[in-house]
Amino acid sequence: MADLDRQLEQLRRGEIITEQEVKELCTKAREILIEESNVQRVDAPVTVNIKRRHRLDMVIINALFSLLDLWRYPCGRLGQFHDLKELFRVGGECPDTNYLFMGDFVDRGYYSVETFLLLLALKVRYPDKITLIRGNHESRQITQVYGFYDECTRKFGSANVWRYCCEIFDYLSLSAIIDDKVFCVHGGLSPSINTLDQIRTIDRKQEVPHDGAMCDLLWSDPEEIDGWGYSPRGAGYLFGADVVKQFLHKNDLDFIARAHQLVMEGYKPMFNNTIVTVWSAPNYCYRCGNIAAILKLDDYLEKEYKLFEAASQQDFRGTPQKKALPDYFL
Ligand SMILES: [Fe+2]
Repeated sequence: MADLDRQLEQLRRGEIITEQEVKELCTKAREILIEESNVQRVDAPVTVNIKRRHRLDMVIINALFSLLDLWRYPCGRLGQFHDLKELFRVGGECPDTNYLFMGDFVDRGYYSVETFLLLLALKVRYPDKITLIRGNHESRQITQVYGFYDECTRKFGSANVWRYCCEIFDYLSLSAIIDDKVFCVHGGLSPSINTLDQIRTIDRKQEVPHDGAMCDLLWSDPEEIDGWGYSPRGAGYLFGADVVKQFLHKNDLDFIARAHQLVMEGYKPMFNNTIVTVWSAPNYCYRCGNIAAILKLDDYLEKEYKLFEAASQQDFRGTPQKKALPDYFL
């Protein structure tokens, strides 16, 4: 635990850990993630920390006098390390606040390695306080095109760390459910899926397939259409308000939270608030000029959006100039 705490502190400062430490961290993370469901339940934090009595008292007191410890934050799209630090500043540090991250931890950022390893270390250190679900970029194929592979080889001198991380990607859950009422997924719905139980039966421990239910959950997008449509992305589907309504009704859900699409305002409710896109990477690719958002849910699942902008320029020491941007940022 002392080693893990040291590594966590190092990662919080934005310093990478050694290849051997990454390997060990991934081994521990796998043991935790393998136990998680494809529809991972996110419960109130008062059920945790029962081994440390003083800690339990503190959590109960906070739960009575402040909703902070009961707030859950679905967050979408990362990869920009300094903005992740800003996210924790705005939302509260983990483990004081319970977080749910909705995928795309890597690619299109200069600090994907730092971002993913920090989230992974937090997961290993506080498994009940942070939930990580898989995005379409958590894939061997995509990371070789959009930057994470290059970043790993540049920072570690070999592809080993990329390989360890890709193995972990295969174990990340596909979705989460908050208090049985809010379904959280990176992309969206699938024509092959009507019920949460059908998602639970998917064998997720594999590279993201090119089609089928698992692919759709990570790639699909809501759109102003009736029923289903083909996606211009070449993977997943477009789906309309009627599809969302039917899915919510069938599974007794309130709404869907998802990520996957840039929204300039940080969040975008659609279809009469039955689905919301949350985007947590401000000034995406260092040039889009968008605001970022996190969604805060209180104990009654009431929504509050917290908006934030890109970390200040002084945090970007070492960020290459615009003219040096690789193709995958454009
Ligand atoms: Fe995505």
